[in-house]
Amino acid sequence: MSPKGSKMKKTITSWWQAAAVVLAVGALLGACATPAAGDKPVASQPAAAAATADDEAEEEEVLEKGEIMVSSNFDDASAGQWKPRTKESDKAAGVDSEAVEPSKDMAHSGTHSLKIHNRTKTWQGPTHLLSGEVKPGDIYRVTAWLGFKDGPDAATFNMSLEKSFKDAATPHAYTNLTFIKVKKGEWTKFVSEFVVPNDSDIAALDYYFETPWKSSGELDEADLVTFYLDDVVLEKLDPSSRPHIEEDIPNLVDVLGKYFKVGCAATPEQVMSGSQTAELLMKHYQMLTCGNTMKWDTIQPIEGQFNFKPADAVVGFASKTGMSLHGHTLLWHQQTPAWVFQDPDDETKPASREVLLGRLKDHMQAMADQYGDFVETWDVVNEVISDATGKLRTGAEGSKWFEIIGPDYVDIAFKYAKELFPDAQLVINDYNLESSKQKADGMYELVKGMKARGVPVDVIGMQFHVKHTYPSVEQIRETIAKFATLGVKVQITEFDMSIYTSDTEDSKKFTKKVKLEQARRYRDIVNVFKEFGSKGVIERVTFWGISDDASWLNDFPVKGRGDAGLLFDRKLKAKPAFWAIVDPSKVEGL
Ligand code: XIL
Repeated sequence: MSPKGSKMKKTITSWWQAAAVVLAVGALLGACATPAAGDKPVASQPAAAAATADDEAEEEEVLEKGEIMVSSNFDDASAGQWKPRTKESDKAAGVDSEAVEPSKDMAHSGTHSLKIHNRTKTWQGPTHLLSGEVKPGDIYRVTAWLGFKDGPDAATFNMSLEKSFKDAATPHAYTNLTFIKVKKGEWTKFVSEFVVPNDSDIAALDYYFETPWKSSGELDEADLVTFYLDDVVLEKLDPSSRPHIEEDIPNLVDVLGKYFKVGCAATPEQVMSGSQTAELLMKHYQMLTCGNTMKWDTIQPIEGQFNFKPADAVVGFASKTGMSLHGHTLLWHQQTPAWVFQDPDDETKPASREVLLGRLKDHMQAMADQYGDFVETWDVVNEVISDATGKLRTGAEGSKWFEIIGPDYVDIAFKYAKELFPDAQLVINDYNLESSKQKADGMYELVKGMKARGVPVDVIGMQFHVKHTYPSVEQIRETIAKFATLGVKVQITEFDMSIYTSDTEDSKKFTKKVKLEQARRYRDIVNVFKEFGSKGVIERVTFWGISDDASWLNDFPVKGRGDAGLLFDRKLKAKPAFWAIVDPSKVEGL
């Protein structure tokens, strides 16, 4: 378990030859709205909005112009290259197609826009099959105006990419690029950039607009809203505008590695050979966590059918580059398929305790067979403590594990894990431990009890999804110190720092002032981590993602509001937060 230490030897050739990432920038750019009065010429729309009068407001990034590949304003009363997403096979399965057609109901410019209506699924919307006009490895920008006039006060939309593969048996892959929130009656500008993947097994690539995915049982009017698209432009950008890592800055691992291991969550796309994100991971981090791909819903979506391919990509990259791995997660009440909790003979009934324990053991066995040799530390259970009570999360609070097995499920999961992963460190992982005293006390009592019962728990994992204004450094210090008295280690497992102060704000500018506040907080908190790292209490700090474009915070807790919680920006440039940790003298005004 020795830290990788210094900078890895580069094995990757050039970004030019092997660009294969899909990236999204601009979630925070696409916030420019105009009233839906119509008839504005496209040319009158600025490339980017000017800075506000507020001294502190950042100027919005001025977007460089690219070569226009496709441009649709629908004024020729044709839908052009746009088609409904509903396919013949969906229709055969009983799904009615949405309508995608030119309309005079409202227009951002000229006379027409594209109307998308009769939607019965969130995924229904206009799609554009990219073919001859785009080239693998090149970077493109889509600009569009989105609006609606009837229905809810506001709705969220996203643009996504769909890959289909030459081997028709491989399921299509979907990447949500950018989300925006649109208010009724206001045309809202949408900007997203992506690199066309050059995986040789791709057969086709579509980009499309939809509302965020929800299952049929949970739909409200915002999910199926009739919407309009206008002035859609697809531009090819100069290759130099592709995100590029800064080679000449210090490596995080060199600066922090003497205190604790430095980790990052990663996706299969981010580790693709030749990508800038892979280079960045190799430069700065020594341990990886699969952000989603080791979760039960990816690994075993159907009983007995295992899908290891996405996680294998990350594991393969880690072993090839000498990084270690953290496993996330063996048991969670979320991102676990419904079948796990259903009676094998009657899915309307819950599984019995025995069946559920058997499935847990089988699943853990499969993980041990596949990843046991690679993974150093495992989140055995994730988020088992209730925010409301500090006790175990109940069935009413979403835990079918608790409901079906009873309160001993946590102990049992750790015992199974010890048998199957005898050399790994076993982690109990949760959020808000640094900010809720009740929850931290609950964790303390739970782990104390587990230790007293001889349950093999080694580490308390603190997710550490914090805000840039709280909790206080004192509270953080006290909590970690208290956990240390239990004789367990502490690991920071999912560190990021939202720029919002509440879960209800809709949008926020990442101003110089906010950047500095965030940088200060990062510095102060990491100083506490270093303190405990020096004492051997904190062993690992993992950041929940590489850069702001690819952070879950963009869509959590508010879909589409955008955020900027990580150390690198949308172009992979080190932010003040990075410098505040690495060399505070480089941050003016800190
Ligand atoms: C998040 C992922 O980052 C998202 O992509 C996904 O949509 C939801 O889950 N606590 C956890 C992580 O333990 O697994 C969550 O990750 C973030 C909160």
